[in-house]
Amino acid sequence: MELRIPFSWEERRPVLLEKFFYLPSLYDGHENWQKIPWNDDRLFGNDRPVALECCSGNGQWICQKAKEEPDLNWVALELRFDRARKIWGCLQRERIPNLFVLCGDARLFARHYLPKETISRLYVNFPDPWPKKRHAKHRLLQRPFVDEAAELLLSGAEGFFVTDDPPYANEIVTTLTTSPFWRALLPSPHYKCNPEDYGRSFFLDLWKQKGKSIHLIHFQKR
Ligand SMILES: C[S@@+](CC[C@H](N)C(=O)[O-])C[C@H]1O[C@@H](n2cnc3c(N)ncnc32)[C@H](O)[C@@H]1O
Repeated sequence: MELRIPFSWEERRPVLLEKFFYLPSLYDGHENWQKIPWNDDRLFGNDRPVALECCSGNGQWICQKAKEEPDLNWVALELRFDRARKIWGCLQRERIPNLFVLCGDARLFARHYLPKETISRLYVNFPDPWPKKRHAKHRLLQRPFVDEAAELLLSGAEGFFVTDDPPYANEIVTTLTTSPFWRALLPSPHYKCNPEDYGRSFFLDLWKQKGKSIHLIHFQKR
């Protein structure tokens, strides 16, 4: 609860402090931002490989991964401030030095803020499925985002996309297979169901409890 947005709505701007980068919504000065390399002391201060998770929710999955794989730098990206604050709370409480939190829209971070060709692994775990037809346009994993996200990755870096929603899984596969930036790593239909040892998250546990299939789509940047 100590972490608060340090300005009024009228003065909104991106802020980077103490392992937390806040990008307010309805901000229009993205072009003014100078991208910061991951080895800058305000980010990780070292050259270890970086893994990015988009749609981190309350951060249960990424906090665990960061502890299990300390030789990687882990970046949690979450739209909602209350959820991003929870991840930051976990980072502080459990002293996880290889974790950093980005709070804001993944599409804006990918386009304007994150350095290109620097990320070794991309995870998007349970992006909102927007199941109604008229809402499907809000889905994150469609163009141009999947291509802009690929630009952040090193060549050969892997992308893991997880959803419980079968139509969304098929749409993600179609989007990735028709993109010039991605190559499937699993045979058709390019996902596997209910992977073991993927880790735990709020939504993974919830959907498992409800007996839903978890689709893991695995691609690689060409
Ligand atoms: C269904 S939840 C999944 C949370 C977590 N991955 C889990 O498995 O428990 C989807 C999350 O994506 C976040 N989200 C939605 N759109 C986003 C965007 N454009 N950029 C970043 N995060 C987004 C939501 O705020 C929400 O926390």
